[in-house]
Amino acid sequence: MAHLTSILISIFVCQIAKSQYVSVSTPVGAITGYVDVVKFDGVSKTVTKFIGIQYAEAPVGQLRFTKPVLKKALPSPYNATYPRHQCPQDSVAGFEMDLSTVAEDCLYLNVYIPGDRVHSNSRNFAVMIWIHGGGFVTGSQDMYDGSVLSAINNVIVVTLNYRLTVFGFLSTGDNELSGNYGLWDQHTAFRWVHENIAAFGGDPKRVTMFGESAGGFSVSYQALYPGNSGLVKRGIAQSGSTDNIRVGIDESKHIFQGFSKAVGCAFPEQSSTVRCLRSKPFKELLSGLQKNAFNMPVFDFRPRVDGDFLQEYPSNIFRNQTDLSAKVLKFFSTLDFISGICSHDGATILMQYVNEMKYYLNRSINDGMPRTFFTERIVPEIVDYLFKENVTVFAEAINHEYTDWSDPYDPAKIRSSAVDLVTDYAILVPAVKTLNSHIVFNTESNTFLYQFSEKPFFYQQYTWLPGAAHAVELPYVFGFPESMKILFGYESVPTKDIKLSKLTMRLWTNFAKSGNPNSPTELNNLSPISWPKYGENKMYLDLSTNITSPVKRNIAPSRISLWLEVLPEILKTIHKPASELPHVPVIVVG
Ligand SMILES: *[C@@H]1O[C@H](CO)[C@@H](O)[C@H](O)[C@H]1NC(C)=O
Ligand SMILES: *[C@@H]1O[C@H](CO)[C@@H](O)[C@H](O)[C@H]1NC(C)=O
Ligand SMILES: *[C@@H]1O[C@H](CO)[C@@H](O)[C@H](O)[C@H]1NC(C)=O
Ligand SMILES: *[C@@H]1O[C@H](CO)[C@@H](O)[C@H](O)[C@H]1NC(C)=O
Ligand SMILES: *[C@@H]1O[C@H](CO)[C@@H](O)[C@H](O)[C@H]1NC(C)=O
Repeated sequence: MAHLTSILISIFVCQIAKSQYVSVSTPVGAITGYVDVVKFDGVSKTVTKFIGIQYAEAPVGQLRFTKPVLKKALPSPYNATYPRHQCPQDSVAGFEMDLSTVAEDCLYLNVYIPGDRVHSNSRNFAVMIWIHGGGFVTGSQDMYDGSVLSAINNVIVVTLNYRLTVFGFLSTGDNELSGNYGLWDQHTAFRWVHENIAAFGGDPKRVTMFGESAGGFSVSYQALYPGNSGLVKRGIAQSGSTDNIRVGIDESKHIFQGFSKAVGCAFPEQSSTVRCLRSKPFKELLSGLQKNAFNMPVFDFRPRVDGDFLQEYPSNIFRNQTDLSAKVLKFFSTLDFISGICSHDGATILMQYVNEMKYYLNRSINDGMPRTFFTERIVPEIVDYLFKENVTVFAEAINHEYTDWSDPYDPAKIRSSAVDLVTDYAILVPAVKTLNSHIVFNTESNTFLYQFSEKPFFYQQYTWLPGAAHAVELPYVFGFPESMKILFGYESVPTKDIKLSKLTMRLWTNFAKSGNPNSPTELNNLSPISWPKYGENKMYLDLSTNITSPVKRNIAPSRISLWLEVLPEILKTIHKPASELPHVPVIVVG
């Protein structure tokens, strides 16, 4: 009953008139932003915002499908008081986009500074760069207002846009169009921050990248790119990990050909096809992005091993077998790293199967899942996807692990197993694998694991879900900003959730300041206990409003053992070398 009687506190970001402009002189020119007021947990603070700073040349015309070009000079004074365009989007369920707000000229970032003036070179604020999620096909920085995070916790927050879907990741599978433009955009924004943030009072030596879902995957890929050495010092990967990449099965060429045909650009000569694709208006390319019957993208544009940004498969890198992987690991091991999951990430990622069950079986996921759908549809597909063949013994092992044998046909229990299975192979196992590598190679940096397990008061989709679906931690990380209100559906926020948000922000920003989530600002009454390093004891923090015993060890040990020990052993006895272990695909959204 406690939650019914708790006092509801309303949080809002005041939209005051932009009367107070602030100008800062930077290496790229004078930039004008404005002062705003934020209120959180009954406290009002000022924040200075610079909205819509261009960090790279517009990737249009001949620059479409090429690496971004860092913006060296802005028209001065540059008006950074209003949002620019979002990158062209492939709308997916739950993230429908108004296409009038998108344009290819979208490589902009926002900067949020604590206080009502720029403490140029006098205060050295730690800097946090946010990379948004959305499955590499949708999303933008403008949903993630960094005001509360910045003002309440004394850090500079930077958010950025990067190219998405076909514009971010089209590749010919060879050097002509090498792909990964979206990742290069992020890296270029890091360079911009490195060169300019001191003018805003930021410390270029204490830069933390953080992101969720596709943003978490991005953080993880950026952590394996030694070109970021000196640009970023730490990373927080929320529900998205290094090892989780579809690059093991490079279908770029196939996708390139299919897409070219769909937009009327298929020519015998590849170079003619590329020329045609560069000449089309961007909306025509967007209309070539088709969906299958279950609203899933037919053409899957994603990061790939291109021999340039990603020179090797993450699983090879983690085995440190070559000079190159040694070099990558050297950089990776200098980063302080947090990885984490939502306890039930899989409930959201399961969407395609939910749609299929409805379509083929006329059955709602709310009524549970038939055992045959799990064993004959989901498990074989995942095995096939991961191992590129139907290995019956793997399916048997998975069915065994993910069956509650006390009641193997109970539809609610089978549904719960399906959620765990998808959470594990898409998010949890890659996170654990990445952190296991990080602690092995790590000499000078810190490693942390968390599980966010709160079922938030605003979450309405599945009443049967006991914990956190994908992405529900976002409002807590950003202090329940106005900008997320509609998507997540909150009005006033209960006291216990304010407290969880405060704790989450403190852990994240402490980590950005010092590499340790427990200092310099004390956790005090926000948490009864500090967050131990992951280390050999595999410790992790369980984040929820129920803080009785937040520190735990060995997350889902039996399931993890299946993926990291049992299946690799079975694989050895079949015919493949262990080196061909799964390059786990990224399935969808967030
Ligand atoms: C900046 O742009 C906004 C939106 O176009 C406009 O309202 C404002 O007057 C401009 N400010 C300055 C200082 O030019
Ligand atoms: C990786 O292996 C190389 C030798 O191949 C070794 O010199 C290096 O220290 C190893 N790197 C790490 C981070 O263990
Ligand atoms: C689907 O199930 C509902 C009840 O759950 C029923 O009313 C409806 O007729 C069914 N539709 C079909 C096509 O069988
Ligand atoms: C996988 O192989 C088994 C046994 O060979 C077969 O019964 C099953 O239908 C196959 N499943 C798929 C999805 O191909
Ligand atoms: C809080 O956590 C404790 C220990 O894990 C558990 O026993 C208790 O049921 C939880 N309470 C709620 C309200 O979830």
